[in-house]
Amino acid sequence: MTRGERLAPLSVAILLVLAAALFISGWLLSIPYEPSRDGAYRSVAAIYQSGFWGLLARFHEFGSGALILLSFAAVALMILTQSFREDRWLWYSAVSLLLAAMGFQLTGHLLPFDRHAVQTAAIEGAIAGRMPLIGPDAQALLLRGDAVGQPTLDFWYLAHRWLLPLLLFASMFVGWVGLRRSEGSPGRIVPLLPTLAIFALSFFLTPTFGSPALEADAATFETRPNWYTWPLHGMLVFSDRLGMGWVGVALVPGLFVAFLIAVPLLSKRYTATLIQMVFGAFVAAFAVAALGAGRPAPLLGNQDPPVIAVAEPNERLPIDPTLVASGRLLFIEKGCGGCHTIEGRRANGGPPLDGVWQRHTDPDWYRRFIRKPSSVKPASTMPEFPGLGDSELRALAEFLRKPRPIKS
Ligand code: HEC
Repeated sequence: MTRGERLAPLSVAILLVLAAALFISGWLLSIPYEPSRDGAYRSVAAIYQSGFWGLLARFHEFGSGALILLSFAAVALMILTQSFREDRWLWYSAVSLLLAAMGFQLTGHLLPFDRHAVQTAAIEGAIAGRMPLIGPDAQALLLRGDAVGQPTLDFWYLAHRWLLPLLLFASMFVGWVGLRRSEGSPGRIVPLLPTLAIFALSFFLTPTFGSPALEADAATFETRPNWYTWPLHGMLVFSDRLGMGWVGVALVPGLFVAFLIAVPLLSKRYTATLIQMVFGAFVAAFAVAALGAGRPAPLLGNQDPPVIAVAEPNERLPIDPTLVASGRLLFIEKGCGGCHTIEGRRANGGPPLDGVWQRHTDPDWYRRFIRKPSSVKPASTMPEFPGLGDSELRALAEFLRKPRPIKS
């Protein structure tokens, strides 16, 4: 028996045990959890205060992170040992568990409704909004409105609690069939060990939970990406610098998923070495992009983004109305208005800018940021505008730092 024949069933058996434990803990946690804008944070805070529920919630959080890592490891291992040839059921089970785990993580992350969670959801919605053609619809579908709020929470909770579990069960069923058909046996004890180890760790690790979301968090993009979206975020930042944000948002991740799904078919026509090389190239590209995109958010504990500072009126320089008027025109002309909602004109892809005057009063800050966002914020996902002249930047800055009412 080859190494792949032994390791593939073992890795899938490990995933099945963990997935089942996550389903059970999640189902239990839905009892004390309140999926409402005000109740969510309060109920999660109460869950962490309680010994029993707190342990369960920490297991659920760290276990779901582990499910991403372990299902990716299972996929990588089957590529390395070439077992995608014989064990198609096991392959499809690991790939769909990886996708389900990402879906659970993205949707589950909003549920505590703390500051980092809400800013992250706003950023994810805007990133979806940058997909070519379907962007605006994708953003509206994901957020169920213009900004993160109760409808967003309703929808993500629905996906987390009812839709994704269907995908989870389907993947587990495929994995179970794969195990029955496979010649190698995973054994009885070893598949339980990772889940037990994560449970034991849950006694000690601090959950990621910060302060309650503020109204402004739904329109502020200051928080750092989570570790599991870090490679995707990196890919976006990287392709943005080349002026092709859509490559990083949609093309490369979409191709990677399509490739994983097609591997068993491709293996009929192409050599295993070629498949291994393509897989390696994707992984290397994501890794390089991630490392170039600054640090991710802290892995444990409080992930609160920086405090949203509101400048004092006496810090404000007088505003030049002529510049404001030309800035308003430039804002549309240069395509800013395609991504940023302002003064009632709706857009997708970036944060609304009606409130930016409260956070930034310095015209120089705007000039530096707009010309080259990464010079101010290393992980920024806004494209650069190196072609703007100084007078244009001055006008845009004046337009943006002018006080205006903030629609919520
Ligand atoms: C492709 C979409 C896109 C376009 C086009 C775009 N932006 Fe942005 N912008 C973003 C994103 C995304 C952010 C979020 C900040 C980040 O990741 O750093 C942002 C952030 C900003 C901010 C900072 C907001 C804050 O609260 O800190 C300003 C100011 C801004 N953009 C101005 C502009 C101007 C002026 C233009 C046109 C010259 C423009 N943007 C064009 C996507 C875009």
